[in-house]
Amino acid sequence: MCGIVGYTGKKDASLMLIEGLKRLEYRGYDSAGIALLHNNRITRKRCKGKIAKLEQLLSEEPLEGSTALGHTRWATHGKPSDENAHPHSDCTGEIVIVHNGIIENYIKLKKELQEKGHRFGSETDTEIIAHLIEEELKKTDILKAIFSAVGKLEGSYALGILYSGAPGEVFAARKDSPLIMGLAEDGNFIASDIPAVLPYTKKIIYLEDNEVAHLTADSVTVYGPDRKKVKKEVSVINWDPVMAEKQGYKHFMLKEIFEQQQAIGDTLLGRLDREKNEVVFEKFSFSKDYLKKIRRIFMVACGTAYHACLIGKFLLEDHLKIPCEVDIGSEFRYRNPPIDRDTLVIAISQSGETADTLAAVREAKSRGARTAAICNVVGSSITRESEGIIYTHAGPEIGVASTKAFTTQLVALYLLTIYLGRIRNMLDEKEALELTQQLTFLPLKVKKIIDSQHENIMNISHKYFKKHDFLYLGRNINYPIALEGALKLKEISYIHAEGYPAGEMKHGPIALIEEGMPVVVIATECDVYDKILSNIEEVRARDGAVVALATEGDDKIKRLADDIIYIPETLTLFSPLLNIIPLQLIAYHIARLRGCDIDQPRNLAKSVTVE
Ligand code: AGP
Repeated sequence: MCGIVGYTGKKDASLMLIEGLKRLEYRGYDSAGIALLHNNRITRKRCKGKIAKLEQLLSEEPLEGSTALGHTRWATHGKPSDENAHPHSDCTGEIVIVHNGIIENYIKLKKELQEKGHRFGSETDTEIIAHLIEEELKKTDILKAIFSAVGKLEGSYALGILYSGAPGEVFAARKDSPLIMGLAEDGNFIASDIPAVLPYTKKIIYLEDNEVAHLTADSVTVYGPDRKKVKKEVSVINWDPVMAEKQGYKHFMLKEIFEQQQAIGDTLLGRLDREKNEVVFEKFSFSKDYLKKIRRIFMVACGTAYHACLIGKFLLEDHLKIPCEVDIGSEFRYRNPPIDRDTLVIAISQSGETADTLAAVREAKSRGARTAAICNVVGSSITRESEGIIYTHAGPEIGVASTKAFTTQLVALYLLTIYLGRIRNMLDEKEALELTQQLTFLPLKVKKIIDSQHENIMNISHKYFKKHDFLYLGRNINYPIALEGALKLKEISYIHAEGYPAGEMKHGPIALIEEGMPVVVIATECDVYDKILSNIEEVRARDGAVVALATEGDDKIKRLADDIIYIPETLTLFSPLLNIIPLQLIAYHIARLRGCDIDQPRNLAKSVTVE
């Protein structure tokens, strides 16, 4: 996610904001910028790259001023570049803004503004907000102009705004994207997150959705959606700066597991056209004729992303009858894959920089295939070398163990299935409506699992954290979740764990089972549920300990499992997204109990950019 810091007060702002941005670096970013309001004039400095580069620019040309905005950008719309870096301005340069979030209707608004003569300098969704305020300012004062402008926005935003006609003042607004205000002795701050202001103050006000704030050096006034002043509570934060980077979570991985509700929602945002009842993508630039003609799809990835591909195979073959092969990146690039112009190769990658996956994309292109990517990093190598892109909007994933990237990759695959299904007439409008409705229920179901099962999962983790071997079993579309659950455990707790198709037990792994060995079985409601119960019986007959994932209300499982984690009911094809949540938490808590270095596990890197 992007990082915002703003200040107005008695002190010089630029160095303070740079330090504040550095304390938000953990959020991940690809460019940075700052704007200062001094002598009724706003000056901006911004650049692609790290904050050090911005510091270099400021050392060459220092900026004066005690009213300022700073920003670190995590690109969602528009590649990382100087022009796309925030802060952005209107045509006049008198209005400057920084933004964190996603504006769903920016294309429509941008077109309307261009028709009114507005000229744009970036590809971002953010820039349109400055021009909207400029347009409204022709009719009213800055505060009302801000209210009118944000009233036209659909999507999420946390905004910092400067107006050269309002010296010494900072404005802020938020909807669905966090923004706080810090009350210090010698001025007032806005920020995306507490770490940015913690060295200056522990007194925080949380801006709520649809509120607008007006800050001066010695006052903070907040207005509600009815544009009337609201009285805000001042909270006192007792975190230390390091804890604050993780928003109070002990590890980034846990924070990112908890962020999945938001990340799934953000990845759906703007992609479900409810009028036409269709899925819309912003950069999946294949013609409908081509998509109708595709005879075979290859999916290629590594690690967790490979497990997402395996689920994608079920979706494309079961629902669209498109033959789909799945390859591990390092295998695909060294075998002679049967691909041609009628093959679409889809790479899945959180980082967009995994060497084996990137090489597979290049191999596919060299053989005439067309390529697409599902990726979490805008402008990354794999996206630059792919023709069509579906971005996951998970925000930066800091923990080495991939969690929210995985569930948002599944969301992208669900959207792609509906998109292709409608184009290829494999899904009628009613079926597509049912799927899109069920998709929108997923974020709350993820929240329900965490709220209702987290304590149970912690107890289960405590019961088995000293074990040396785990087996994970799943069938059909949940077999890849058995693989992913095993990978999560082994990569952060260093316990040996294997994922297996449950039906394979008799072909080998059953020999592994000894008394008390934990076997995690994905037994949520599905067509092969009874088969899975038999597999559980096989485990119990050999005194294995069964940890079962079961659908809420399933009483049958009680007589078979030693421990049960209940999962809200959903369509089978969506069950992998819900089933992985408890498995992520089991891996996390077992690793925590074993004292492992969860965010940076031994021998592993977040992005494997070498062979
Ligand atoms: C997953 O938890 C691992 N960190 C690893 O397997 C990862 O999924 C793999 O390296 C692929 O990375 P990518 O998604 O960035 O391409």
